[in-house]
Amino acid sequence: MMNKKNLLVMGLSLLIAGTLSAQTYKYIGADKCKVCHNKPATGEQYKKWQADPHSKALKSLTNQASIDYAKKNGIADASKEPKCLKCHSTYDTVAANLRGGILATEGVSCESCHGPGSAYKSPTIMKNQKLALQNGLILPDQKVCVTCHNPENPFHKEFKFEAYLAKIAHPNPAAKK
Ligand code: HEC
Ligand code: HEC
Ligand code: HEC
Ligand code: HEC
Repeated sequence: MMNKKNLLVMGLSLLIAGTLSAQTYKYIGADKCKVCHNKPATGEQYKKWQADPHSKALKSLTNQASIDYAKKNGIADASKEPKCLKCHSTYDTVAANLRGGILATEGVSCESCHGPGSAYKSPTIMKNQKLALQNGLILPDQKVCVTCHNPENPFHKEFKFEAYLAKIAHPNPAAKK
């Protein structure tokens, strides 16, 4: 028979296990995703991301608009400013001990939208959507987008989910939907 104390201990250990696994997911970087996600037959997601503004988001922090904004607002260098990097660079939003290969140059990388990949990246897990989701994969919806696409951004434009999604679409034409 389960008594109350046993239930409490079980609950606590589940809680701790859950917290630990969430914390141990590491950010492996776009080059690792590229190994499997750059084939034309399955949608060459890496190449599409390279052409999409997210991969260039860090570079924008050194463009003229950023230089002008920084000067007006007492920011020494927007590309080193945590207030800007928090939405323009995945690397800079990740604690040092969770950086497992992600590079400082990636801008807004795959894992800002899909979650840290260290546990879901293996082919057996990736091929099984349920397992992948249990191991940290995120299939992002509008809620993920508006963590960055919001008025806290000094260059914010109205965020229209469907239209914005279409601009960065990278579907897998071979996937059964
Ligand atoms: C070892 C190969 C491999 C690596 C590395 C890998 N994937 Fe995958 N991924 C797959 C395979 C295989 C599928 C199943 C669909 C397919 O064949 O493309 C998949 C599916 C996905 C899906 C669709 C899931 C679904 O069920 O709709 C996403 C999203 C994804 N991967 C993102 C990533 C990201 C982000 C990374 C890097 C952090 C990554 N993958 C690394 C092989 C890989
Ligand atoms: C981690 C922050 C972050 C998340 C999450 C994010 N974005 Fe972005 N997005 C940016 C930044 C920063 C830019 C500006 C890139 C640049 O040009 O420097 C941008 C630019 C874009 C653009 C180009 C806009 C234009 O003016 O052409 C589109 C489209 C877009 N995002 C769609 C999306 C969608 C759809 C989602 C959710 C599925 C999403 N984004 C999630 C940070 C993010
Ligand atoms: C809350 C998240 C967020 C913060 C904070 C943020 N940005 Fe952005 N930034 C974005 C997003 C999202 C876009 C794309 C907006 C769009 O086109 O819809 C963007 C776009 C830009 C652009 C336009 C890109 C281009 O086309 O040239 C510049 C420049 C820029 N941001 C600079 C900055 C600077 C400088 C800071 C810090 C003072 C900053 N951002 C802080 C999210 C953010
Ligand atoms: C700005 C957010 C964002 C970024 C950055 C991003 N993705 Fe995605 N990705 C999405 C969204 C949204 C979907 C559609 C999810 C769905 O179908 O529910 C998607 C779908 C996918 C799929 C599934 C395609 C299908 O049709 O089954 C794969 C694979 C994938 N992404 C891989 C990647 C890889 C690899 C990178 C980096 C090289 C990347 N993504 C970068 C938002 C993003």
